[in-house]
Amino acid sequence: EKTIGILTGGGDCPGLNAVIRAVVRKGITAYRYRFRGILKGWKGMMECDWEPLGLEEISGILPKGGTILGTSRTNPFKEEDGGEIVVDNMRRMKLDALVAIGGEDTLGVANKLASMSVPIVGVPKTIDNDLNGTDYTFGFDTAVNIVTEAIDRIHTTAESHNRVMVIEVMGRHSGWIALHAGLAGGADMILIPEQKYTIQEIVSTIRKRHERGKDFSIVVVAEGAQLGGIGQLVAHAVEEGTSYETRVTVLGHLQRGGTPTAFDRVLGTRFGIAAIDLVHAGDFGKMVSLQGNEIVAIPLAEAVNQLKLVDQELYDLATVFFG
Ligand code: F6P
Repeated sequence: EKTIGILTGGGDCPGLNAVIRAVVRKGITAYRYRFRGILKGWKGMMECDWEPLGLEEISGILPKGGTILGTSRTNPFKEEDGGEIVVDNMRRMKLDALVAIGGEDTLGVANKLASMSVPIVGVPKTIDNDLNGTDYTFGFDTAVNIVTEAIDRIHTTAESHNRVMVIEVMGRHSGWIALHAGLAGGADMILIPEQKYTIQEIVSTIRKRHERGKDFSIVVVAEGAQLGGIGQLVAHAVEEGTSYETRVTVLGHLQRGGTPTAFDRVLGTRFGIAAIDLVHAGDFGKMVSLQGNEIVAIPLAEAVNQLKLVDQELYDLATVFFG
């Protein structure tokens, strides 16, 4: 009987439990594996902190947000001999293979461990959707839906008070959430890290809109847009530059909370099944990924060597609705 470890690392994200459930369910019923749930990501691997994970533990977790295993941003390679400690602990915990679910940082660790001959399979996770090599990551669709609903609700105040409402959303390096939710929510301007803006451009776009008779505006800003301290800064600059009353809402961790959408549950489940099939096939050093409608396996290195920035064509399309 083989023993498989499973861990979740980095920021939590709706859909993580769907992956854990699928990996463990198929691993036990189809392959007769035994599972050890490594607690708090790589921290648990450094400290041999784990709990047995059986059918009982995964029952009822599909709709739950967050991760039943806990998570951390611990990176073994930032600690002295961290890589070797993880390799030793694989042996100590009697693990035959490891499934690591995480974003760029977690999968970067997985990639380094794979090159040290650790039998490891990766599952891509980020609500930001900026991980290379996969068309979508689970959690993104949930975040886009939460932000779209927030934009719809904020429209009420924008219209009633004739205000400019600035909504700051997650996305340090890329504007996927801002772009998709901005399009879905009918934003009047979307600011993303991939583009450069001047305050003057922002002010004149809002002015143009108000001059054609619209007396409110919605501006969606990704936290990493290249203006620094972004939401407040945009709101302040717009109010100064236009004299229209302006308010800012920072959605923050609300975007990562709660139950995953049906799309994310299905994607997480498909990823989980594909990951445990890779383990069974002994096909290590790979990450499962969505390409078109297919789940495929790609080398871990492909996922971590660059970021996937937003589709320029989609951004250009969104600008039709600016101002
Ligand atoms: O990478 C996911 C993400 O939610 C980013 O969008 C955000 O910048 C960051 O994590 C926030 O991290 P933390 O939860 O550690 O504050």
